[in-house]
Amino acid sequence: MGRLLTFDIFRYNPNQPGVKPRMQRYLLEETPGMTLFLSLNRIREEQDPSLMFDFVCRAGICGSCGMIANGILRMACSTLTRDLFPSIRLMPMPLFKMVGDLSVDTGTWFRQLNKKTKAWIHSRQAFDPDALEMPMSNADAANIYELERCIECGCCVACCATANSRDDFLGAAGIHRIARFMLDPRDGRTQPDYFKILGTQEGTFGCFETMACEDHCPLNLPLDDSIEYVRDKAERMGKKY
Ligand code: FES
Repeated sequence: MGRLLTFDIFRYNPNQPGVKPRMQRYLLEETPGMTLFLSLNRIREEQDPSLMFDFVCRAGICGSCGMIANGILRMACSTLTRDLFPSIRLMPMPLFKMVGDLSVDTGTWFRQLNKKTKAWIHSRQAFDPDALEMPMSNADAANIYELERCIECGCCVACCATANSRDDFLGAAGIHRIARFMLDPRDGRTQPDYFKILGTQEGTFGCFETMACEDHCPLNLPLDDSIEYVRDKAERMGKKY
């Protein structure tokens, strides 16, 4: 027989403003290989169909299932309950718009980030519909690889002191993304172009350097390195321009 798990889960539905936020308790017997995602599914199927939480891929790829489990930001689909104490407290990620219970809207935040950082390749070459793809050297691809792995789960933003105190901050996800384009030889943006995006309190100078982002990133991305890299570049640009 598996452990008896106690789940205390945050409940709130913004569409029912008369009902105050509360914690609700559910009990579940642990099964081998059980993840938080599987537990939540069982609770919803067997005990409470009104429970709201997000998932898409169930494989740690889509970034939909971020939440706070026992005080730590985690992806529900890749967190095994056997790695947690039997008493499990689940809260939604802060900062993002509440959809309901453990479900928050990270999509709107990341769409705005994409617009602000102009997160696409800015080629200086004229468009040629007959051209082959723009090739990239193995060394360049290797440089960009770690920066391209972000799944936009929002954990680095939810735990960020600056992002929680000002809503215009790009966050580690945004700074990491800019670093990705700065390293991409196909991106034709100039240093002043980048400086406009990141040489402000909204950008790299707003970071308090608590480095919670790197501690909480479920993919262990080198967010600290990205912030330092971009800040160093921004300081040099600031002196020059
Ligand atoms: S459901 Fe896709 S990352 Fe967890």
